[in-house]
Amino acid sequence: MASTGKILLSVTGFDPAVWRAELEKAAPDRVVVEEPSGPNDPEIDYAIVWKQRPGVLKGLPNLKAIFSIGAGVDHIFAEGDLPDVPIVRAVADDLTQRMSEYVVWQVLDHHRKGMLYRDQQANRIWHEDRMQPAASEVTVGILGLGHLGRDAAEKLLALGFRVTGWSRTPKAAEGVGTYAGEAGLGPFLAEADIVVCLLPLTPATEGILSQTLFSKMKTRGPLGAPILISAGRGRLQVEADILAALESGRLGAASLDVFETEPLPDDSPLWSHPRVTITPHAAAASVPSALIPPMIRQMDAHDRGEALTNLVDRDAGY
Ligand code: NDP
Ligand code: OXD
Repeated sequence: MASTGKILLSVTGFDPAVWRAELEKAAPDRVVVEEPSGPNDPEIDYAIVWKQRPGVLKGLPNLKAIFSIGAGVDHIFAEGDLPDVPIVRAVADDLTQRMSEYVVWQVLDHHRKGMLYRDQQANRIWHEDRMQPAASEVTVGILGLGHLGRDAAEKLLALGFRVTGWSRTPKAAEGVGTYAGEAGLGPFLAEADIVVCLLPLTPATEGILSQTLFSKMKTRGPLGAPILISAGRGRLQVEADILAALESGRLGAASLDVFETEPLPDDSPLWSHPRVTITPHAAAASVPSALIPPMIRQMDAHDRGEALTNLVDRDAGY
């Protein structure tokens, strides 16, 4: 049955026009609006959001669910007083594939001494570093063994790396050494040569990439000091502690895709640090043509009485 309700598209930081165009293609029978017609617009039944305008979701009497344009939903929870409706996050092969590409790219760059050889090239130095370990000698530990972490783990295993993962609740994944909860963090860190962070930002994970965590990492491994690859959320990391750990040699290098403040301020010392690789929150883009059709399928299924999937656990915050 054709829907008579409206979709509220409340997006900041992205161009809403491309999302609107994709919505109009995927759901020609649904009306898309970027603002409710008033504070209690009864016609809005679904909302699609990225950093929604504060207050825009409040008081919509017939809102059935909120869909996030991203895998992370901290941008939704930034507003405290949310309507009590299900929140659906983005889970899509396209997004997962993009994140795995980023993780594999950065792991291989550190593993194969990309920084050293780029520096040598800049100085016209021809020198092979013969201390090149095999992938099988290197353990990549993934903080966050969810949709993205598990896929990255599979791709790294296929390249021959040893892979471990840390999650909130115990998980089993073929070929992956798994650790869970606070008790599992120390042993996980003691083993990893490269730590990849794909955690969500929640009250429990905020600031986790700090001096306390770095002090539990192993001190030496086949790549020298351990390496951090961070693509979850910027507020997981304490950037002053990352810089201090790089200076003290606790961390050998870091690849950072996310930052405490985005865009990364001009005066951040991270920009010019020789052992930091910066990407502008570009690890895995949300692509409208990949994300909108499954959202519409979910709305249609929900309107037929079927359950929504990829739901956020509000108590856990992700
Ligand atoms: P999932 O919800 O599928 O996975 C999250 C993982 O983190 C789970 O394994 C979960 O444990 C674990 N976790 C959560 N809280 C804790 C905790 N307190 N202690 C230990 N483990 C914890 O999320 P996705 O994999 O889909 O996405 C992860 C994050 O990646 C997103 O939240 C987003 O912030 C970020 N992201 C960044 C992008 C970028 O471009 N930089 C793009 C896309 C996403 P459990 O398995 O027990 O639930
Ligand atoms: C996401 C992101 O959460 O792009 O999907 O950061």
